[in-house]
Amino acid sequence: MRTLFITGGAGFIGSALVRLLLAESDWRVVNIDKLTYAGNLESLAAVADSERHLFVQADVADRAAMDELFARHRPQGVIHLAAESHVDRSILGPAEFVQTNIVGTYVLLEAVRAYWSGLAEDERSRFRFHHVSTDEVFGSLGPQGLFSETTAYDPRSPYSSSKAAADHLVRAWYHTYGLPVVVTNCSNNYGPYQFPEKLIPLMVLNALAGKPLPIYGRGDNVRDWLYVDDHARALRLAFERGQAGATYCIGGNAERTNLEVVDRLCALLDELRPRGEGRRYGELKTFVTDRPGHDRRYAIDAGHIRRELGWAPQESFDSGLRKTVAWYLENSQWVAHVQSGEYRQWVRQNYSERRA
Ligand code: NAD
Ligand code: DAU
Repeated sequence: MRTLFITGGAGFIGSALVRLLLAESDWRVVNIDKLTYAGNLESLAAVADSERHLFVQADVADRAAMDELFARHRPQGVIHLAAESHVDRSILGPAEFVQTNIVGTYVLLEAVRAYWSGLAEDERSRFRFHHVSTDEVFGSLGPQGLFSETTAYDPRSPYSSSKAAADHLVRAWYHTYGLPVVVTNCSNNYGPYQFPEKLIPLMVLNALAGKPLPIYGRGDNVRDWLYVDDHARALRLAFERGQAGATYCIGGNAERTNLEVVDRLCALLDELRPRGEGRRYGELKTFVTDRPGHDRRYAIDAGHIRRELGWAPQESFDSGLRKTVAWYLENSQWVAHVQSGEYRQWVRQNYSERRA
């Protein structure tokens, strides 16, 4: 059976990718995750019994642990998603971002290189190290234009600069050591199982609790939204069929201002879970102090991955947002466990005997 390492597979995008691979491919997945606050094995409950899924709690910056995993499982590739991912947290405390996103990626690259160097010639050329990155490395757009694979790097936040540093390391390992890498840079993801610190789940859960909906600045910053399962499908394609050394930009072609997103969420909630007594969720909108260094606009030209690998999103922003709101309404236990912190216990109750 072919084995694939996924790092960060208990996070929002990683868990979507693990669920997709187990449902639609024959890969055996070794899921390596440190289980920070953002790691939630309850998001993998549907695949907890799969024979093709092994969860390992480990830090990608732990070289001895990484060496041992490569020697034991001998994977045909790695998709590296483990990271600190939230811009606001990076502003409040950049240290973890430097440690995991830069040092962690470096340590993992060195463990991969040591393992990959010992493979037979044909296995070496088929191997892939796929680094999952963000469009935020390109900085901030004005009203016109799109980010593409040739856009110069211009990161602004501690988060985006740590991801940019990691992207440079990954490409250096390709040029210097010949490690067959693929890099993908994706726009804002949304969908089920997203931790409620990010805009869309935060607004949904605040609205349901009757709390203010904090909109930074004037709410006119623009993001290009992509449904998470569409990103997972793109990641699988880029990993399995991407050219060594290639970069693929991934985006939803769905630019919205933050205010448009919040208004749409309020309208969906008014329809699906009315507040009653004639009240509307939009009344909860509150404009708050802007994020420092807040990037104005992101937008992606996904032409390369569409032409070369035939990828296109299956969800429109309207269909994806409706599914997402419905998911949060229907999955009140997942939400309650995240809000109470109980999800941190889930690993002990359900996974302890399965840990490697
Ligand atoms: P997330 O914060 O939901 O999940 C990150 C996961 O990584 C968590 O499960 C966490 O426990 C794990 N992790 C953190 N530090 C670790 C370490 N040192 N060792 C092992 N595991 C560790 O993040 P996400 O939103 O799922 O993003 C996943 C990846 O995709 C990140 O690399 C992020 O930069 C990138 N990305 C995210 C988006 C987005 O919109 N969320 C868009 C483009 C790219
Ligand atoms: O573009 C890809 C990036 O998208 C990923 O690399 C990051 O991991 C991911 O977190 C996301 O970054 P953003 O900073 O764009 O996402 P966030 O959900 O934090 O914010 C989206 C927009 O909404 C942004 O313009 C800030 C604004 N915002 C966010 C929050 C949490 C608000 O107005 N109010 C809020 O409370």
